[in-house]
Amino acid sequence: MIRAICLLAAVFGAAPAWAEAAPHIIEGEFAAKVPTEPETGAWTKATPLTVTLYRQRTVRLRDKDVNHKLDTELGPRTAAVKVVYSKKQLGVQVSWDDATQDQLEHAYHDAFGDAVAIEFPQKYGMGESLPYVGMGDIDHPVVVTIQRAHKDASHNRQFVAAGFGSLTAIERDTEMKMTYDAAAKRWHAVFVRPLKDHNLDLTHGLVPMGLAIWEGGVHERGGNKALAPWRFIRLGKHKLDPDYLAYVSWGEDGQPIGDPKKGETIAKTQCIACHRFADQQVAPVGIAPGLENIGGYAVARYLQESVQEPSKVILRPLNPNRHYDKSGKRDPHGAYPNAVAYTWSVPGADGKHMSKMPPFAHLPADDVNNLVAYLKTIKDPLNTKGAQ
Ligand code: HEC
Repeated sequence: MIRAICLLAAVFGAAPAWAEAAPHIIEGEFAAKVPTEPETGAWTKATPLTVTLYRQRTVRLRDKDVNHKLDTELGPRTAAVKVVYSKKQLGVQVSWDDATQDQLEHAYHDAFGDAVAIEFPQKYGMGESLPYVGMGDIDHPVVVTIQRAHKDASHNRQFVAAGFGSLTAIERDTEMKMTYDAAAKRWHAVFVRPLKDHNLDLTHGLVPMGLAIWEGGVHERGGNKALAPWRFIRLGKHKLDPDYLAYVSWGEDGQPIGDPKKGETIAKTQCIACHRFADQQVAPVGIAPGLENIGGYAVARYLQESVQEPSKVILRPLNPNRHYDKSGKRDPHGAYPNAVAYTWSVPGADGKHMSKMPPFAHLPADDVNNLVAYLKTIKDPLNTKGAQ
């Protein structure tokens, strides 16, 4: 099917396969037991959702070879995601093609290994904004569980993250297993966690889940990865809030949002002083997040709220130590303070952070939706440009 679309695209110049609508619901399979071995037991009955991940580059390293590798274009990265749950547990299986099995050996800091992470917001449901998908944001912490291809499973980690670079390690409550199928050149990673514990309560009919994959073969690590947009796990045994389903589903599955052409005109006049995207590259790097691939890893509802109420979800700078104020006073370690122009929020009168992005609340709703429709087109799984 995908090949057929690609062929058609090649012949008629139509949109490539990944520009098509992406289903956003992962149907959970209820079972007595959640298997920790991939593709066994209830996993074989669960229906996979194919998810496309988009590259995000937040860190440039000093090493030219590493940077060159990071710019290497691989094919689109897609993963098949399955969910199995029981009365007490929730399991996620992520499977993806990978021609090279990059395992960490010893010092993880010097090495690049294949890795996969899932995340869940600590708060979700009607009245809660979806967090920034890249590890939460100042007001919306997420629980991140990461496993790395390593001979020693103790390198797997769990964090509560409240924005990029703000991680608090927590005790692991998730069983993890990463298995490389050398014949199929495919990874299967299984996560099995409690449905409910003091970090998370997933006993709801619809649960947002984030997904990131690192390809060690092109030197991805940390902020350099491929990111999927929030996908939503449907747990049929738990109560579904139809309003929340409608809220997160806006603009998904090919639902029309607005006119991207009109949105493009607005974006190219109102947003380019701060953001880089598509052929608009005048904003200083780091003054605001780059919107390269934003349409790939951000859902429409998040984009709509980002434009109308930027202070609801405030990103932490993705690369805060890039710009220093050399006229400022050094700290006891000799480091200069970060340059104020490159911070993305300021403390408000009530102590809450305020985004430096002006709210575009004055824009008519149609214009906002046209903008969102345009932002959703800014995506290409082969794009390796920065997001910082
Ligand atoms: C004065 C600078 C400025 C302008 C103008 C501006 N933004 Fe922003 N924008 C920011 C900053 C700083 C952030 C990061 C802080 C935050 O999360 O609000 C941001 C964040 C965002 C995000 C979230 C990015 C992500 O990776 O999740 C989106 C989407 C966005 N802006 C869209 C727009 C659009 C669309 C426009 C034009 C209508 C616009 N911005 C105009 C400064 C700006």
